Amino acid sequence: MTRTRTPLIAGNCKMNGLVAASMGLAAELAARATDAARAGSLKAEILLCPPATLLAEVGRLVAGSPIVTGGQDCHAETAGAFTGDISAEMLADIGCRYAIVGHSERRSLHGESDADVLAKASAALRAGLGAIVCVGETAAERDGGEALAVVERQVRGSVPSTSDAVVVAYEPIWAIGTGRTASPADIGEVHSHLRAVLKDHLGPKGNEVRILYGGSVKAGNAAAILATADVDGALVGGASLKADDFWGIVTAL
Ligand code: PGA
Repeated sequence: MTRTRTPLIAGNCKMNGLVAASMGLAAELAARATDAARAGSLKAEILLCPPATLLAEVGRLVAGSPIVTGGQDCHAETAGAFTGDISAEMLADIGCRYAIVGHSERRSLHGESDADVLAKASAALRAGLGAIVCVGETAAERDGGEALAVVERQVRGSVPSTSDAVVVAYEPIWAIGTGRTASPADIGEVHSHLRAVLKDHLGPKGNEVRILYGGSVKAGNAAAILATADVDGALVGGASLKADDFWGIVTAL
């Protein structure tokens, strides 16, 4: 398959990982990615999003390897009285390259609206980060035939229309952490719709935006998912916590 966009394989560790395990994972992945790059076989950009407590330390460890780091969220403001929050500028300051925004766990557990996600994505871009904007329908919405309308509404409401430094992650909520993945046909249908919406929303730049799939991606199903048209990589949760599992996805490209 000829690709026009460099695939991105992103690991979202969520609230998992104490120092020893996270640093061991990052070291192992950095070593494998460095070897693959030297051998000319690395086909993807690789992103690790460890817990915020370890972002700086993981960033120092992977510096000089092909792996980059990103935050799992960011605040919309630059600085201020926002206890517990982290700004996009703070992420950029410690060498992060991306921020995930609007993950369904943030949307549902922290009540984030499309407008909130748009503000966070704009903040990430302002700080010079790539914004990975997550969208995805619930099981009830899919069963009701609303999946395409839901993700379109989320893209129009939460993707800044001013920059192509965005990545969109399609993550059907019913597939996250459940072991159920959308079929390649369903993924292809949503991604091709998202591509059309992004071209309408961003103009020709919409063709440059990478669209990742997320939701129970594993080494065993990654090849079929990544070979689907308009799938430009994966956002990986559970399988990003073990080097063999994550690397199996990177090498499925
Ligand atoms: P999962 O999570 O791979 O564990 O399903 C994906 C995500 O939430 O980004």
